[in-house]
Amino acid sequence: MKKVYIRTVGCQMNVLDSEMVIADLKRHGYVVVDTPQEADCVLYNTCSVREHAEEKVYSALGTIRQDKENHPEKTIGVMGCMAQKDQDLIFQKAPHVDLIVGTGQLGEIPRLIRETRDSAEREQQKAVSLGRRDGTVAEVSGSFQSYDPLRDPEMRPSPYQAFVRIMIGCDKFCTYCVVPSTRGPEQSRPPSQILSEVHVLADQGVREVCLLGQTVNSYKHTENGQLHRLSDLICAINDVEGIERIRFVTSYPRDMTDDLLQAVRDIPKAVRYLHVPLQHGCDEQLRLMKRGYTVAEYREMMARINETIPGCSVSSDFIVGFCGETEESHQLSMDSIREHRFKNSFIFKYSERPGTKAADLMPDDIPEDVKKRRNNEMLALQNQVSEEDNAEFIGQRVSVLVEGLSKTAEKQAARNDEGGGSGLARQLMGRSMCDRIVVFDGNPRLAGSTAEIEIHDCTGTTLIGSIVTRQVQHGSSELLPIIG
Ligand code: SAH
Ligand code: SF4
Ligand code: F3S
Repeated sequence: MKKVYIRTVGCQMNVLDSEMVIADLKRHGYVVVDTPQEADCVLYNTCSVREHAEEKVYSALGTIRQDKENHPEKTIGVMGCMAQKDQDLIFQKAPHVDLIVGTGQLGEIPRLIRETRDSAEREQQKAVSLGRRDGTVAEVSGSFQSYDPLRDPEMRPSPYQAFVRIMIGCDKFCTYCVVPSTRGPEQSRPPSQILSEVHVLADQGVREVCLLGQTVNSYKHTENGQLHRLSDLICAINDVEGIERIRFVTSYPRDMTDDLLQAVRDIPKAVRYLHVPLQHGCDEQLRLMKRGYTVAEYREMMARINETIPGCSVSSDFIVGFCGETEESHQLSMDSIREHRFKNSFIFKYSERPGTKAADLMPDDIPEDVKKRRNNEMLALQNQVSEEDNAEFIGQRVSVLVEGLSKTAEKQAARNDEGGGSGLARQLMGRSMCDRIVVFDGNPRLAGSTAEIEIHDCTGTTLIGSIVTRQVQHGSSELLPIIG
């Protein structure tokens, strides 16, 4: 039995890619192990979005070097965005790496591992897609293969939730961002393929699908002469028995069309939550970032969201310390958090990425300590807004899809070395229809079902409540004891 270890950094796309690669390798006789030391093959699924993400992988590669010297037969592979971006540079920096496989070539991994292992000289192998300027659009697109049909329930963080890729790549070319080159041209998958994948997932017990795309609401695909938009896809998935919730990330502000907002309002399984990163609250910064909208246009979009879907949660990403960001422009980003009252925001310090327009044309001129301070200021403000808005839920009831033990209970279980399956009440977690994290005491066997929770307390990130009732699922007559 061959053993594989995989470490994943980066976004949901990478989590999904790792699931696919492991599913493939299992079909080729591999088992997954928990440490690189015990593995025959060690894979790093990498991210290039910020320098820090790359440093993590180079540091892990440094750590494994001795192990590889002692066990030259061990295969070390670097896959994903950094593999596509850095290519041979990885072999130069880490000569003990055997394989480099870009995001568009992941299906090649089993063959490449075999070829490395079987070649007498253990030749290094590389499979990457074309650069954005290395061919016609069709050639470049064709070199990025979407890699989706193999699903492996075991690799998912929760058996009840699954990512479904509906598109690959990105064509927006924000000036700071590597993704259009690491993931290639934007390509939407055929709706028939996506639907059959969702059916497979539902049969495997999945209750919530999260549709993935870098600009997920730009999805469009013409099949049998008919144009399918994201709203049509959500409508079709709504009919899949077993699926109870449909989420999608990440939305692009300019593509937030009314048909999509109406779908989120009207389709019962659509979660009332949108992740639509604003990135900055200052027009000049948005222009330099080439985001394609102004602050006023974003405001108009927020008004349409709030008007069409009352109670809809919206979250954002922000970059602080981008080229030329003044104290005044930073304050405008702060103002936008106050104005739009995002459910939460992911806030990043600008990290210059070689090969991007910003790196070529604009100096990375904000000192690290200023970036850090602005980052902390925004985080503090966002936390305050989140806590105030979460407090509005106190006394209300929310419907929660139970995911499993809460982080606290998981840590406790690890400390006590107990399994999660006993009948005792533990702290569980799940999410409301508007994507709020909710914790409450209950039987761990409730995982995968929907429960009504009354909220009696909160923090900035979490609603705290107790179970009121549990809805029985899909004709199941088994009633679990309700604790809490
Ligand atoms: N496609 C998504 C997000 C992709 S990357 C979108 O367009 O919203 C996730 C987040 O990382 C981005 O939203 C942005 O806030 C951040 N990011 C991307 N490039 C970055 C860089 N060079 N430095 C710092 N943050 C960056
Ligand atoms: Fe990057 Fe912009 Fe594309 Fe998002 S939309 S992946 S930030 S280029
Ligand atoms: Fe990172 Fe690639 Fe995702 S650069 S954020 S892993 S698309």
